Amino acid sequence: MAEILGGIGISHVPSLARVVEQDRPELGGENHFAAFRDVAGWLADKRPDVLVVIYNDHGSALSLEVVPTFAVGVAASYLPADEGRGRRPVPAFPGAPELSWHIVDKVIPEGFDLTVCQRLDVDHGLSEPLVTLFGEVDEWPVRIVPVAVNVVQQPTPSAQRCFDLGRAIGRAIASSPGDERVVVVGTGGMSHQLQGERAGYINSAFDNSFLDDIVDDPQALTAYSNVEYIELAGSEGAELVMWLIMRGALDGNVREAHRGYRVPVSSTAAGIVAIENQ
Ligand code: DHB
Ligand code: FE
Repeated sequence: MAEILGGIGISHVPSLARVVEQDRPELGGENHFAAFRDVAGWLADKRPDVLVVIYNDHGSALSLEVVPTFAVGVAASYLPADEGRGRRPVPAFPGAPELSWHIVDKVIPEGFDLTVCQRLDVDHGLSEPLVTLFGEVDEWPVRIVPVAVNVVQQPTPSAQRCFDLGRAIGRAIASSPGDERVVVVGTGGMSHQLQGERAGYINSAFDNSFLDDIVDDPQALTAYSNVEYIELAGSEGAELVMWLIMRGALDGNVREAHRGYRVPVSSTAAGIVAIENQ
């Protein structure tokens, strides 16, 4: 049976991996991002075979003509998306089609109408966290199951719906006949707003309470409406609902392994948490 070792919540700011790399104290940096490197080490120690990555596309591969609320890739490989200047210069991501199909077969009959993608290019919402966690590699050390969530065009799925989907995905993974070691990753956030009157908006008090609750009381985070997420975390900070899918996939009995928070990265609050199934 497949095993879920734990989960990671991580921002996906496009400059994040470079900023974390340059901050290394041994390179003369200030160690603002120690937790990001700690989580990378934690992940390496866990030796996962597959990452189930909950991320959002930003109108790069999924145009606004067709907006699936939830989509899952079932491909053998995923190309990095062209976000305007050619495909991102990272290797293609190997897929885990057996696990993808198992999730599709279990989760759709439970009432979650996932869009099934035989082909899916993945943008910085997925690739940036993987570069942050694995560095610049010639070949990725894991296979992936990408799960794309619409947090870009209204109406977006509710926090409660996201948490429930995560629970269904967790049950599906736990019943997979394979013996994969799985880590679930939720990307995006923390608070930020990139446009409009509140551009540059950051809410550190909310971000820190979110980091507490995502570990100990995720149900509390399902009480906020989508409008409240935008009010509290900013229009793009509403990406945080994807961390609830990650958290829903874990057991009730978890422990926080690492956590970090830093303002600003770009005009964004950046956060990370690693949560272990006990
Ligand atoms: C930034 C943050 C995002 O979540 C994103 O998708 C793109 C850019 C930023 O802070 O620059
Ligand atoms: Fe984003």
